[in-house]
Amino acid sequence: MSSPIVNRPVTVAIVGAGHRSIVYADYARNHPDLMTVVVVADPMAARREAAARRYGIPASGQFASFDELARRPGLSDAVINGTMDRLHYASSMPLLEAGFHMLLEKPIAPTEREVRDLIAAAKRRDRIVMICHVLRYAPFYAKVKELLTGGAIGNLVALRTMEAVSYHHMAVGFVRGRWSRTADSNPMLLSKCCHDLDIIAWLMTGVPAVRVASFGSLMQFRPENAPPGAGERCLADCPLEPTCQYSAKLNYIDKNLWRFYAWECLEPNMTPTVEQKLESLRTNNPFGRCVWRCDNDVVDHQSVIVEFANGATATHDMWGAVSRAARTIHVIGSAGELEGDGEEGVIRVRRPSLARTPKAAEFDVETINLNDLGTTVTDGHGGGDERLIADFVATLRGESASQAVTRIEDSFTGHQIAFAADTAMHQRKVVELA
Ligand SMILES: NC(=O)c1ccc[n+]([C@@H]2O[C@H](COP(=O)([O-])OP(=O)(O)OC[C@H]3O[C@@H](n4cnc5c(N)ncnc54)[C@H](O)[C@@H]3O)[C@@H](O)[C@H]2O)c1
Repeated sequence: MSSPIVNRPVTVAIVGAGHRSIVYADYARNHPDLMTVVVVADPMAARREAAARRYGIPASGQFASFDELARRPGLSDAVINGTMDRLHYASSMPLLEAGFHMLLEKPIAPTEREVRDLIAAAKRRDRIVMICHVLRYAPFYAKVKELLTGGAIGNLVALRTMEAVSYHHMAVGFVRGRWSRTADSNPMLLSKCCHDLDIIAWLMTGVPAVRVASFGSLMQFRPENAPPGAGERCLADCPLEPTCQYSAKLNYIDKNLWRFYAWECLEPNMTPTVEQKLESLRTNNPFGRCVWRCDNDVVDHQSVIVEFANGATATHDMWGAVSRAARTIHVIGSAGELEGDGEEGVIRVRRPSLARTPKAAEFDVETINLNDLGTTVTDGHGGGDERLIADFVATLRGESASQAVTRIEDSFTGHQIAFAADTAMHQRKVVELA
């Protein structure tokens, strides 16, 4: 076992100074006694310099790429690897070989072979690698896990989870954006729902998944579905823009949604004017394209069925382009059932009623409203981001891990289900897991 880091803060290197890394690295600003940021590696000078200013990183700790850092073992205890999905494997391998512990963003890698290789490398080099499955740290799922492991509904028999991706999130990420093409990123299920499949595997802890089936398709965002008269770009040639829910102006300017994706093409200008934004949407900004005329190829809805070795089953539905984004869960156990809505922050546990009176209720209900418990935090993952990095640091310091700890070896099953689901969907067969 690697030696715990005691009597000093854990030192970390940011690899990929993008949006996600900074969220985790900020832990150092609030807890300088526990973690300090000493290195940044990013080819984008503006981001690298901004991170260096934010954390006081000297010039000797600034690199243009992960491979420069990989040639300098020992510069930090650990790295926060927030590179984009297709760089996870290429960057993690040399950094692990160089001896860095790692907090790695999800998904681990786009293929099962690469995931297995990374698990083997972490084991061989005795490094701690944690995956950013932040949902495990969100109060909603932490409570679900606590209830289920505490036996609230007996033995688990069947689980159903659902992630509904809003219309504007679908468009920005999976139609116009960086996760819209499998070859550039991943299949949609892996990109968007590896969290949910990880939650299923986590709740079924210890029981191997054995078979997977899946159906899904890219049904909506295809050229043949463009409304009559639709143009190529919302603000260049589309008369339907004022009434379209996917309008780039509506979402990225009027509602100011997704600014870190929508205005990336204008960086390093971090405060573009509205006129500059409008001009980019009219001309070369990929987020100005008509959603029916992009080069996307990932699905817009997919359903997965998993069978576990003990006979339990789980289903997950990914529904894209809905009005209200949501995550829900329904679990049936031998002694009751649990149902919850992550957005509402409400969990209901129902058990058969033993009341022996005519007209007695068929079941009793215990309602847990996380909002009443004061646990809802607005960082997008219910405070999970901060708890995750805190757990990573605590793990490196040799303190006992939380129930959520997302070591790479524990994160494998959810990814394996995602890979199998895509094979099952494309090859129209049931996939047996090895
Ligand atoms: N856990 C979650 O809920 C969650 C949510 C969103 C995104 N993500 C994942 O987080 C990861 C990062 O997403 P993001 O939105 O922060 O991306 P980003 O594009 O903002 O950041 C990636 C950074 O990596 C840098 N980079 C590119 N090549 C590099 C190299 N050779 N060496 C070092 N850095 C390099 C880029 O310049 C960029 O600054 C992705 O894998 C994404 O899928 C996770």
